Amino acid sequence: MPTKTVSSATEAKLLQAAKQAMKHAHAPYSQFRVGAAVLLTNGKIFSGCNVENASYGLSNCAERTAIFSAVAEVGPGIEIRAVSVVNDHGVPCSPCGACRQVIFEFGPNATIFFQGASGPKQAHITELLPEGFRL
Ligand code: THU
Repeated sequence: MPTKTVSSATEAKLLQAAKQAMKHAHAPYSQFRVGAAVLLTNGKIFSGCNVENASYGLSNCAERTAIFSAVAEVGPGIEIRAVSVVNDHGVPCSPCGACRQVIFEFGPNATIFFQGASGPKQAHITELLPEGFRL
């Protein structure tokens, strides 16, 4: 599926929302704060941060926090147009496998903005998650 363009102004707004959300991260175990923002096809932006737990496996990534927040607020009919992810170490950080599958659920044509190995990068969700699972 072709990637729909997101204007550079919208991309900047999405990045800003992710940076703002990162400030709320609860990451006392990894000390790795992450912020994410999702742009819906209706133009609304929702953001989220990682929320860790003393029982490590219960931790939630920033991307999923943002997506679940959008679903809670708008409903299950949302469609994700783009996702932005940032971290407080300025290191490469593409969405983890679980988050890719959750992005795919609500955004099979989404564009993801993240820090790649050699600088800022954008990728279509199906590049990050070929053959995503569907029921
Ligand atoms: N994390 C995210 O929130 N998003 C990512 O894309 C990668 C990892 C979080 C999970 C955990 O709280 C911390 O980063 C270290 O793995």
